[in-house]
Amino acid sequence: MANINEIFSILQMRDMAKAKLPSVMFDYLEGSSEDELTFDWNRNSFSKYEFVPRTLNDVSSIDLSSTFQGVKIDLPIISAPTGMSRMFHWEGEKAVVRATHKAGTAYALSTVSTTSIEDVAKESNGPLFFQIYAWHNQEMVLDFIERCKKQNYRGLMLAVDLASLGKRERDLRNGHGRPAVLRRNTALGALGKPEWLFNFLTKPKMRMANMVNHLPHGADALKVVDTVNAQFRADVSWKDAEQMMKQWNGKFMLKGIQCVDDAIKAAELGVSGIILSNHGGRQLDGAPAAMDILPEVVAAVGSDVEIFVDGGITRGSDIIKAVALGATGCLIGRAYLYGLAAGGEEGVTRVYDILKDEMERVMKLIGCPSISQLDSSYVRKHV
Ligand SMILES: Cc1cc2nc3c(=O)[nH]c(=O)nc-3n(C[C@H](O)[C@H](O)[C@H](O)COP(=O)(O)O)c2cc1C
Repeated sequence: MANINEIFSILQMRDMAKAKLPSVMFDYLEGSSEDELTFDWNRNSFSKYEFVPRTLNDVSSIDLSSTFQGVKIDLPIISAPTGMSRMFHWEGEKAVVRATHKAGTAYALSTVSTTSIEDVAKESNGPLFFQIYAWHNQEMVLDFIERCKKQNYRGLMLAVDLASLGKRERDLRNGHGRPAVLRRNTALGALGKPEWLFNFLTKPKMRMANMVNHLPHGADALKVVDTVNAQFRADVSWKDAEQMMKQWNGKFMLKGIQCVDDAIKAAELGVSGIILSNHGGRQLDGAPAAMDILPEVVAAVGSDVEIFVDGGITRGSDIIKAVALGATGCLIGRAYLYGLAAGGEEGVTRVYDILKDEMERVMKLIGCPSISQLDSSYVRKHV
């Protein structure tokens, strides 16, 4: 198998992750819902645009820095919240947060992480954000908010795209939607991945780290998954978002906005940022790619709120195109998870290095020296 430094693209990193993970774990990482149409659309949405390169500009020095919710970041990418990272590498979120900060940017922790709010803060020397849900158990939600305040998290992102869990058929086939469970097929698959299996069995056990005090004592894995799944509400409303924004009283984003009308409502509510996202195609199959709604959303609310996009990013050029169209930056999910699965912290660092190198190269080749000068004149629809 190649050394991590012999990996030169995100999709090559994906192949290495696939080779290292039991197939059940890889399916959970990679899979999306139903026919995985939105997953494909996310990826294809970037190739609908081409660059309009300028020549004979001085591009000897490239400035990729940007901001995210009042925090300066060295490149216009942040690490998206992803649950259950311990499934992919025994160091899970700890490896990701260290590598993300080393790259000079912000990390967003998922509610359903396998490292707690406090333990991630201990590993961190950079900006942290927390992705939250409006769950049935208000006491638990308030507990998360207070703990984030105490640990100096810089902002909350409320995920608004989970009125129901997406129908992820790979997970259903692998274990009835219970990806964390070492079922018989997982165990058999793991036998062929001895490094992963050794670490899975010998390193600290996987747990829903943020909610251990809220779960039934001694609950087994199935009970934990059922308890968490039962928390999701189908009646979450704009009122809930408003209430949580007041409870937090700081930078507050909505993650999972998928149409211009909701972007306008979010801006009217007074949120500090919106993340155009379809959850990496893992929720509604048939939801639009963020890039396909970005220009319309920028036209409607671009001067009022910071707009971030995610879904399908595998190249530095994808990020440059999104920023040219008016996004402040992008979130990456699978891209860094491939790195995590392939090589832990080193793998995530390599992912950031690859994306940074690609972005700098593209900026030179389009003749634009800084992110702040990048605008829609550098891209157009490909015909
Ligand atoms: C394995 C995995 C787990 C995820 N878990 C969460 C989560 O817990 N909360 C959340 O808001 N989004 C979650 N997401 C969605 C990401 O935050 C992000 O929107 C998505 O990964 C972007 O698409 P990409 O993976 O193509 O980059 C998850 C995505 C993946 C791949």
